[in-house]
Amino acid sequence: MWRRGGGGGHGGAASMALQLWYCCLLLLAASAAAQGPQPAATSYKTLSGAAPLVIAEGGFSGVFPDSSQNAYAFALSATPNSTLWCNVQLTKDGVGICLRDLVMNNCTNINQNYPTGKKTYIVNGDRKSGWFPVDYNYSSLQSVILTQAIWSRTDKFDFAYLPILPVINVSSLTAPSPLWLNIEHDTFYRQHGLNMTKYILSLPKSALVTYISSPELGFLQSISRRVNRKTKLVFRFPDKTLRDPSTNQTYVSLLSNLTFIKTVASGIMVPTDYIWPVTGDNYIQPSSSIVTDAHNAGLEIYASDFANDRIIPYNYSYDPLEEYLFFVDNENFSVDGVLTEYPLTAAEAIGCFTNLNASSKTVHGNPLIISHNGASGDYPDCTDIAYQHAVDDGADVIDCSVQMTSDGIPICMSSINLFDTTNVQRTSFSSRASIVNEIQTTPGVFTFNLTWDEISSKDLKPKISSPESKFYLERNPRYKDVGKFFNLSDFLEFAKDKDLSGVMIIIEKASFMAESLGFDVVESVTNVLSDAGYNSQTAKGKVVMIQSTDSAVLVKLKQQETKYKLVYTLPSTIGDASASSLADVKKFADAVVVDRASVYRTSQNFIIKQTNLVKDLHSAGLDVYAQVFRNEFVSTPWDFFSDITVEINSYVQSVNIDGFITDFPKTVRRYKMNSCTGLGDNMPPYMRPVEVGGLAQLLNGSQAQPPALSPAPVLNETQVNEAPLPTPKKPSGGGTSGSTPPGASPSGAHATATSAGILVMLMAVCASLLI
Ligand SMILES: *[C@@H]1O[C@H](CO)[C@@H](O)[C@H](O)[C@H]1NC(C)=O
Ligand SMILES: *[C@@H]1O[C@H](CO)[C@@H](O)[C@H](O)[C@H]1NC(C)=O
Ligand SMILES: *[C@@H]1O[C@H](CO)[C@@H](O)[C@H](O)[C@H]1NC(C)=O
Ligand SMILES: *[C@@H]1O[C@H](CO)[C@@H](O)[C@H](O)[C@H]1NC(C)=O
Ligand SMILES: *[C@@H]1O[C@H](CO)[C@@H](O)[C@H](O)[C@H]1NC(C)=O
Ligand SMILES: *[C@@H]1O[C@H](CO)[C@@H](O)[C@H](O)[C@H]1NC(C)=O
Ligand SMILES: *[C@@H]1O[C@H](CO)[C@@H](O)[C@H](O)[C@H]1NC(C)=O
Ligand SMILES: *[C@@H]1O[C@H](CO)[C@@H](O)[C@H](O)[C@H]1NC(C)=O
Ligand SMILES: *[C@@H]1O[C@H](CO)[C@@H](O)[C@H](O)[C@H]1NC(C)=O
Ligand SMILES: *[C@@H]1O[C@H](CO)[C@@H](O)[C@H](O)[C@H]1NC(C)=O
Ligand SMILES: *[C@@H]1O[C@H](CO)[C@@H](O)[C@H](O)[C@H]1NC(C)=O
Ligand SMILES: *[C@@H]1O[C@H](CO)[C@@H](O)[C@H](O)[C@H]1NC(C)=O
Repeated sequence: MWRRGGGGGHGGAASMALQLWYCCLLLLAASAAAQGPQPAATSYKTLSGAAPLVIAEGGFSGVFPDSSQNAYAFALSATPNSTLWCNVQLTKDGVGICLRDLVMNNCTNINQNYPTGKKTYIVNGDRKSGWFPVDYNYSSLQSVILTQAIWSRTDKFDFAYLPILPVINVSSLTAPSPLWLNIEHDTFYRQHGLNMTKYILSLPKSALVTYISSPELGFLQSISRRVNRKTKLVFRFPDKTLRDPSTNQTYVSLLSNLTFIKTVASGIMVPTDYIWPVTGDNYIQPSSSIVTDAHNAGLEIYASDFANDRIIPYNYSYDPLEEYLFFVDNENFSVDGVLTEYPLTAAEAIGCFTNLNASSKTVHGNPLIISHNGASGDYPDCTDIAYQHAVDDGADVIDCSVQMTSDGIPICMSSINLFDTTNVQRTSFSSRASIVNEIQTTPGVFTFNLTWDEISSKDLKPKISSPESKFYLERNPRYKDVGKFFNLSDFLEFAKDKDLSGVMIIIEKASFMAESLGFDVVESVTNVLSDAGYNSQTAKGKVVMIQSTDSAVLVKLKQQETKYKLVYTLPSTIGDASASSLADVKKFADAVVVDRASVYRTSQNFIIKQTNLVKDLHSAGLDVYAQVFRNEFVSTPWDFFSDITVEINSYVQSVNIDGFITDFPKTVRRYKMNSCTGLGDNMPPYMRPVEVGGLAQLLNGSQAQPPALSPAPVLNETQVNEAPLPTPKKPSGGGTSGSTPPGASPSGAHATATSAGILVMLMAVCASLLI
């Protein structure tokens, strides 16, 4: 009620809304106090108070060709309550068809059927070239098939050879679900002698057209009061710089006249940035007042242009579900519906992630949320700020990948090579570059070539990781070099008073450090742990876990009868483990880490099968943590619909994983709070785990079928049982600039090293110029 009330300016309405909101909160608190715990309120700040609509744009068009039978059928099965969207185009003979784009070659194979059919027309004042529906009778389009319009999505579903569908056929396919018709180009069709108004008015009542939208106000006026009274008309705002061809008014001026819009339409639809404006560098700004303005004018408001595989503002941490929540679950408003190419994610957001208690206390428990270099999805790896955010975001365990400095101090750093984690190329330390063959064949400035004072000096700045940069997905530029590094002792001190269930310390390359640097890294780590008071597995109320890919490290710790929880990292991409190797692992480890590729095997990014590995590890009594979970949509198989929450959900429900190692702890934390997975048989379809191999099955028999998998390697005893760690050769190592390290190499070798050193420095300079 308050949404429409509150006369006067926006300020008045907003403050009244706020007052009422507080009032409601107090009432809730009072009734909760009186009656004990209450389920979360389930009303929404939409105009009607009902849940926002999920509008499936051309069906599930993020996966299947837009407006195809498969896209609509899949949307209906995954999100039964969604409204199906059809973008109506007219053929030369006046048949209404559902098609994503007026330019048909963007979403069909028409250019192959009619190679000479390309035309140029003026559309709303602009010249557009391509194949247009107005040039073809419906019968001549029957041999044309629908194709995926977005090149970065899989084109494999094009090989289902699905025809263009008349609107009538779509409506019988989707009934009894509501149908939403969008009329984008009435003026254009009118110019080509076609009457869209007549077509729409000719549709039978059985077509269940519940919404009609258009960016042309003139069109809505022409059907207003002539369509079924129950059909809602929605005025669609495109890009603000354009003009409505039917009224020749700018959309900006129409936006300032919502009371006039209300005389024609019952709602408006706007792109996301009308509501949450976006800066040039892709951050959202405070929300505009448009949702409240529309609601105050009695208009519903829908947000358009959602897709999981878009580049979304950094504020959402590459998580499409988070974006929806900003529109449907913030303190001030909810839009009345979202138009999306991935309806499943919108349905999840609305059905399972709204009205959660954000301030509810973290309950530590399985599956564990284990950070990967802190909250490294948003902040530079292993910095104080990344760790602080991991804690704030609800991680159960924070992690430190141990590297050694030249002065023998264990520090937290995601890579042994400072090129990967800092701006070292641009500092005077770039002269410390060298090739160390045991590590890599290209030059690096390694942690063991600098002292801790040097690494923690102001000159050296952390650098945010970019694991998906090959897809041009860079992480949070505003935070790309913030924070300072921790040494292991700082890290343990930091963790002491934090609400965490544990810390994970990762030791790699222990043999190299012993043989080449003279460091006993295991001893260094255990010394720092005991100095910090972490003397047993549950010291300071926290489990101390030590993780390594080297069984020798864990065997050594086991021999010392340490109380730490020992975690063995399995080789990547294995399909199973032999019984004898499991028995061996069990001797020195309490838990294992597997990579995602060892759990779900894929071919051309389609999941083909789930391995038995986790089941067998569980049978052997080992906890299993999987790595590395990342929000970026390119990091998941197609089967998870570019939605990290779908992936997490499958690892919980189908794999039964004991812990997630993730760059984005907050996303797993939010998953654990969802209100749906506890519903048993009433769990909505969009929250059920995906069927293993479900998408690939749809390709069976077509030429698009992904190649069969070769068998995955099986873990064997030889891999598990490594030679014991060598005893450190030298008291110290890691030459620092200017000083000759103890036990310097013979002069001959030294000369070669020097000339190699010059080459290396040149390469480092080149590298810094390139960056
Ligand atoms: C297209 O349809 C129109 C109207 O029904 C008809 O007059 C015309 O002959 C058709 N053209 C072709 C090439 O089929
Ligand atoms: C259609 O395709 C053309 C050329 O491939 C492209 O320039 C245009 O942006 C596309 N239009 C849409 C709406 O995707
Ligand atoms: C559309 O529906 C009609 C009537 O049911 C049917 O004859 C026709 O084959 C359908 N067209 C397509 C492309 O599915
Ligand atoms: C289009 O059809 C509608 C409904 O039949 C009619 O009222 C209108 O006059 C027609 N417009 C033109 C330009 O023929
Ligand atoms: C639309 O309005 C603009 C600005 O008022 C004017 O320049 C233009 O000629 C108008 N176009 C039409 C088709 O009336
Ligand atoms: C709103 O639009 C109507 C119709 O074009 C016009 O008469 C009225 O003056 C406009 N109001 C404002 C505030 O622009
Ligand atoms: C989006 O992120 C930027 C950078 O962290 C921040 O300044 C801005 O306030 C955020 N926007 C919103 C609406 O929270
Ligand atoms: C809600 O409105 C208040 C008051 O205008 C504002 O301070 C706050 O930032 C708004 N929150 C959101 C999420 O827009
Ligand atoms: C939300 O969680 C906090 C902290 O656990 C609790 O005090 C509060 O009562 C919860 N609110 C609701 C509405 O359940
Ligand atoms: C669909 O909507 C009905 C009525 O609002 C509701 O009872 C049902 O739970 C919804 N189903 C899903 C899967 O969200
Ligand atoms: C153990 O596995 C490794 C890697 O898959 C393989 O190279 C080796 O031959 C296997 N050894 C035995 C004894 O099966
Ligand atoms: C870095 O340390 C390694 C191992 O001690 C050494 O071989 C290399 O020469 C050092 N590089 C520089 C530039 O000091």
